[in-house]
Amino acid sequence: MRQPIVAGNWKMYGSTPRVEQFAAALNAADVAADVQLLVFPPVAYLHGFATGLGVSDIELGAQDLHVDQEGAFTGEVSGTMIAELGGRWALTGHSERRRYQGESDALVASKFLAALDAGLTPILCVGETLAERDAGDAAAVVTRQLDAVLESAGIERLGLGVVAYEPVWAIGTGQTATPEQAQEMHRIIRDRVRAASDEKSREIAASLRIVYGGSVKPDNAAELFRQGDIDGALVGGASLEADSFLRIAAAASDAT
Ligand code: 13P
Repeated sequence: MRQPIVAGNWKMYGSTPRVEQFAAALNAADVAADVQLLVFPPVAYLHGFATGLGVSDIELGAQDLHVDQEGAFTGEVSGTMIAELGGRWALTGHSERRRYQGESDALVASKFLAALDAGLTPILCVGETLAERDAGDAAAVVTRQLDAVLESAGIERLGLGVVAYEPVWAIGTGQTATPEQAQEMHRIIRDRVRAASDEKSREIAASLRIVYGGSVKPDNAAELFRQGDIDGALVGGASLEADSFLRIAAAASDAT
């Protein structure tokens, strides 16, 4: 049985009052114990979140990291710094970074490894654009993004992380993938991991958590979570309010 994850990616939203309100709401809430809750605030708020939250029910992470642990790289933040600020997780390869920062599959694979080296758990984000889906290339694109990490990190290290399938056309658009579309891609990802090598890869494929992201809301989460290969969600907009975030977590708990 894979423990579901409900992760909130705050993107470049937030403020100190928002962090305080969110933390207070979480502290007052009955948080589903069988769901792993994660929040990825902007790194500027990581320490405030880590010290202000005061709840053990939630873990924190960063939305990106640099491949090196230190160096003359103005504006960058390393995995060891994230860990020191209270982060335990890191997103790698979010489509907004692939798109706006031009991050390549190879760079994303290096970041995945850098996160592990810093003691963080990486979440590898993969997903196709609408044009790629319309051209019938969705599976090929996602497989290519996954293979880049499988090839450089190896199956065992991939298995230390989590995969997030986030079709680009569903992010922030209100147009969620149907449960069937999401399940189909999650199955393709799991099959690819299973086929990567030997006996070990079967075990890793079975235990690997693959979460879905793209316009997940309290009213569509339950149906997604009922799919056999969907192990939770990476939530953008609906994670900014504690109420909707917790309702999605409750849906994940109900589905277990
Ligand atoms: P939305 O939930 O706002 O569509 O964002 C999804 C996402 O990109 C999470 O990483």
